[in-house]
Amino acid sequence: MERTFVMLKPDAVQRGLVGEIVNRFERRGLRIVGMKMVHVTAEFAHQHYAAHVGKGFFDGLIKYITSGPVVAMVLEGTNAIEVARATMGATNPAKAAPGTIRADYSLEMGRNLVHGSDGPESAAAETGLWFKPEELWDYRRDVDAWIYE
Ligand code: RTP
Ligand code: MG
Repeated sequence: MERTFVMLKPDAVQRGLVGEIVNRFERRGLRIVGMKMVHVTAEFAHQHYAAHVGKGFFDGLIKYITSGPVVAMVLEGTNAIEVARATMGATNPAKAAPGTIRADYSLEMGRNLVHGSDGPESAAAETGLWFKPEELWDYRRDVDAWIYE
């Protein structure tokens, strides 16, 4: 079992796509172990996107992510990090495979609806940044026996 951090960006909330996007991850079999709505400050956004400081798109990215509330989640499952990224699709929606969230609902890199951790280190760091331990739940669903061998 692996955990990953996923964030539905402000455009997902504004466009009424929260349910649709969460549904994609749930149907895949991933378990929601934490979920909340947050309107992040620029300072917090800088921490989350620290790896991108100094890049040309950084200021626009911070403005985008702080433009409205987001939905933050921690998802759990076999290969959760890779599976969540694959479900989201490529960063540039124009290059994302049909059937992925970004391909099906977005057009531009700067409005690509969803964030997912890109590896074990970022998954752990982002989960710790966004969630307190007591906001994450250890549980099993009856259906898990039909998803996990
Ligand atoms: P994310 O972190 O949001 O899950 O996206 P990602 O791993 O697929 O892409 P990353 O390289 O980490 O970029 C973070 C976000 O910054 C915006 N971006 N804009 N205009 C550009 O060249 C550009 N490059 C990146 C996107 O919103 C991207 O998701
Ligand atoms: Mg990234």
